[in-house]
Amino acid sequence: KVFEVNWDAEAAEKGGFEHFMLKEIYEQPKAMRDTMTGRVNAEEKTINFPELNWTAEELQGINKIFIVACGTAYHAGIVGKYYLEQLARIPVEVDIASEFRYRSPLIDGNSLCIVISQSGETSDTLAALREAKRLGARTVGVTNVVGSSVAREADQVIYTYAGPEIAVASTKAYTTQLLAMFMFAIYVGRLRNTLDEAYSQELVAGLASIPEQIHVMLEDVDQIKVFAREYGSCEDAFFLGRSLDYAVALEGALKLKEISYIHAEAYAAGELKHGTLALIVSGVPVIVLATQEDVYDKTVSNLQEVKAREAVVIAIGFEGDTVLANHANHVIYIPRTGKYHAPLLAVLPLQ
Ligand code: F6R
Repeated sequence: KVFEVNWDAEAAEKGGFEHFMLKEIYEQPKAMRDTMTGRVNAEEKTINFPELNWTAEELQGINKIFIVACGTAYHAGIVGKYYLEQLARIPVEVDIASEFRYRSPLIDGNSLCIVISQSGETSDTLAALREAKRLGARTVGVTNVVGSSVAREADQVIYTYAGPEIAVASTKAYTTQLLAMFMFAIYVGRLRNTLDEAYSQELVAGLASIPEQIHVMLEDVDQIKVFAREYGSCEDAFFLGRSLDYAVALEGALKLKEISYIHAEAYAAGELKHGTLALIVSGVPVIVLATQEDVYDKTVSNLQEVKAREAVVIAIGFEGDTVLANHANHVIYIPRTGKYHAPLLAVLPLQ
């Protein structure tokens, strides 16, 4: 069957950027708009997935969701778990695809398996998809590539519409995966009535501002360049956060390892004291994400613990935050947004 792919030649060229990764970072406002097109109704502040067209009845049998993916897509899956559990109130397990099929997953006809893959061709992810189907689960593929194997083999597809991602390191594919999972959780939450209308409208209104907020952030990167110059020769770095900030920290550590060849580890901020604190020595850069209000105080106290060991703390928090500057060596401020929206912005300085 012939698929029409509407990517043009310009999209596959560097367009004046030094390299593809940078270009793709800068394409995120457009990518986010494209992911929302046809799904976000800005006037009514609702989400629809015409390609799924689900009803509340169809969802009644689903009592568990599995999200399976590799690498950055796996990190998007961890964010997706927070979204789906909190907004749609369905238990979610997130699996690394290369582990999934070897652990005899307890998956059946009442399970929904979501596989996330930018390329739609990662072999472990495909094998996991096939295993979930063999066990009778309903499957949804979240992918960027039209007509890819994931798109063809999953029962239903959610395209992320990020445009071609040429760089090996994933950036716009990740943020559009987060956005797709966020919208999907709102969609399912409304169908299951676990999410009230007023709150869901508030969430959708917040989404509409995201592309412009990203655009503004990408216009002002001088501070990031200074940090890169100052700490680019370090050997180790740590990324800390709680809740959704922890999920984003995982992605930050992967990006730094992959692109800068710097050993980096992400920790749930409260877990650090259970051994790894020994590695926090004088001068080690520790990036602390502090965007999640419900765990904010606890995160700040973890920040103080690493500061006491003379780590160099770079905090990431919202504009208007007056606390972080008292404790961290540096603060990167991101535009204020909702707690579920925060990962979409907090990951940018890490990229
Ligand atoms: C990291 C990165 C990889 C991919 C992973 C899965 O920057 O790009 O970790 O996310 O190899 O690839 P896809 O999403 O194509 O299945």
